[in-house]
Amino acid sequence: MIHVTNLSKSYSGVKAVNNVSFEIAKGEIFGLLGPNGAGKSTILNMMSTVLPTDEGIIKVDDLQLNGNAKKFKQLIGVVPQEISLYEELSAYDNLVFWGNLYGIPSKELKERIHTILEMIGLLDRKKDLVKTYSGGMKRRINIAAALLHNPKVLLMDEPTVGIDPQSRNHIFEVIEALNKQGLTIIYTTHYMEEVERLCNRIAIIDSGKIIAQGTQEELKQLVPTQESIQLEFALLSENQVTQLGEKLNLRMIQRENTLTIESSVKELSQIIIACNELNLAIKDIQLQKINLETIFLSLTGKQLRD
Ligand SMILES: Nc1ncnc2c1ncn2[C@@H]1O[C@H](COP(=O)(O)OP(=O)(O)OP(=O)(O)O)[C@@H](O)[C@H]1O
Ligand SMILES: [Mg+2]
Repeated sequence: MIHVTNLSKSYSGVKAVNNVSFEIAKGEIFGLLGPNGAGKSTILNMMSTVLPTDEGIIKVDDLQLNGNAKKFKQLIGVVPQEISLYEELSAYDNLVFWGNLYGIPSKELKERIHTILEMIGLLDRKKDLVKTYSGGMKRRINIAAALLHNPKVLLMDEPTVGIDPQSRNHIFEVIEALNKQGLTIIYTTHYMEEVERLCNRIAIIDSGKIIAQGTQEELKQLVPTQESIQLEFALLSENQVTQLGEKLNLRMIQRENTLTIESSVKELSQIIIACNELNLAIKDIQLQKINLETIFLSLTGKQLRD
């Protein structure tokens, strides 16, 4: 349904998006997983016609974005990374404002707002000013605004940033309900738990490039070990990490006093011996099954999050 081919975008000579291609089938939730500055918003902004492309083709079914921006906009709903609502207006009036921008006839708009508010669980609060809403409620209204014109595709840019876990769950439920109704969704995030829960297929993106894509199972096959070992120390210096790396010849990454080592339980005794030789006092050991964060680490040598 969605075809993105060889998409690129530079900002003053720096490639923010570098030759990105992916295909999404109707009814999928497709995740774009990557750290800050990976290029997620730039991709979505090009897909939503906000930013012109430098190179590449974006198509929904047979409709190509270039030259058809107006028609294209009708197919796509956008939930931007920044919440864009009028705080001094009620949720209902905000939605009327957005609906008018889309030129939706007023009777149809009224019905549509009612249906959507009911679905996102905010019908009883529709007359309250947005400034009285929690962060999670504002996010839900932001999602509602993107749905008024009944798009076929929903682009969501980190829709759970800065909200509490309970509201986050509420938003997940909304997304799952929308997807059940047949909406195709692109979801960007730097939280692996979110793509694990929501997405059928995932593209892992770093420095403007897609470094891997597929189902979670397919992505897991891309790395050598299906487990990693996490060690916590009382103290851990960079120098000690380097020495341990030389002794063990395994890939590892340090986060303060914790070290994640790409290895399986078979290497555990060898790891403990090496730590003892370096006088490193182990406080805790955990065996972790492979997950998207360790896959990201394995593919890039970096952490997904700071
Ligand atoms: N308007 C701009 N002018 C110059 N550089 C920009 C601009 N917008 C983005 N960039 C750069 O392009 C790269 C990709 O940014 P983008 O916002 O797409 O990343 P992102 O994956 O959405 O990150 P985040 O998770 O922080 O939202 C970054 O290096 C960023 O600094
Ligand atoms: Mg972004």
